[in-house]
Amino acid sequence: MKERLVELKEEALNKVAEAEDAKQLQEVRVAYLGKKGPITEVLRGMGKLSKEERPVIGQLANEVRETIAGEIETKQQQLEKVALEKQLKEEALDVTLPGRPNPTGGPHLLTKLIEDIEDLFIGMGFEVAEGPEVEQDYYNFEALNLPKGHPARDMQDSFYITEELLMRTHTSPVQARTMEKHEGKGPVKIICPGKVYRRDTDDATHSHQFTQIEGLYVDENVRMSDLKGVLNAFAKQMFGQSREIRLRPSFFPFTEPSVEMDISCKMCHGDGCSVCKGTGWIEILGAGMVHPNVLRMAGFDPEKYSGFAFGMGPERIAMLKYGIDDIRHFYTNDVRFLKQFHHA
Ligand code: PHE
Repeated sequence: MKERLVELKEEALNKVAEAEDAKQLQEVRVAYLGKKGPITEVLRGMGKLSKEERPVIGQLANEVRETIAGEIETKQQQLEKVALEKQLKEEALDVTLPGRPNPTGGPHLLTKLIEDIEDLFIGMGFEVAEGPEVEQDYYNFEALNLPKGHPARDMQDSFYITEELLMRTHTSPVQARTMEKHEGKGPVKIICPGKVYRRDTDDATHSHQFTQIEGLYVDENVRMSDLKGVLNAFAKQMFGQSREIRLRPSFFPFTEPSVEMDISCKMCHGDGCSVCKGTGWIEILGAGMVHPNVLRMAGFDPEKYSGFAFGMGPERIAMLKYGIDDIRHFYTNDVRFLKQFHHA
């Protein structure tokens, strides 16, 4: 019996060692330690033994059971540990992997630039005014001192809808409309951003539709030096404190005197280079003192009131500010172009 027990122990321990998973281990447990197992069998036959042998075999049988049970327990823990490690390995997440970015949109470069310019003038006391894009000939031309047949109408090739209606060629008609609403009483201090249309063939510097920002300040005693001060503040805030401005005589039918404003070239600081075509200066906008005829037609007394007006193109400003070489980039909306300015 003793030998049989020792043999069973060896056998069981071998099977425990061979068990590869919890199921096989459970089979070993049932086979050797279960009620119908061989050890129970041995113990059943103890009745045949002598009084002296009985406790010896009984003790041995218990020892064998405990050893096997202990080994099964150890093996079980070992198997659980291996299984857990395997699971952890399989389910491991690489937390250092960057997430998938959600592409976000942003305002168009022109929209942002126009808002920046608005803010800048609002800071100087201007209010934002708007007018229609389909405009009457009267406001687009006549009220701006451009009667029918005036040769200067050719400066702005127009899309006419009827004899009296056209797509506005500039934002200046908003001047006339706003002054009219003020019924001859100043001050009027507005900027008017918006789309304008011209019968131009699209190329790197022309577009049949583009944007303008108009400025108008009418009050008693508004002088050319006020215009210069406002434009200087605008240019420095927009392009940098080191930039200088200069006003050059020019012609617009609705202003007298008329000027064009240049800023000093950023590249050569006035020495002359390819960006400024050797002049040291870059043209930015048109401006002037509101023509007495324009004041009068809008119901203002030119003896009492005076004013200045200016008009600029945000596309041109953006092109200069960011080195953009083709106006069509603004309208073809290639995201690779637009994305570059999301943080501008
Ligand atoms: N309206 C002019 C243009 O489109 C610009 C301008 C506005 C000039 C106001 C002087 C005063 O060319």
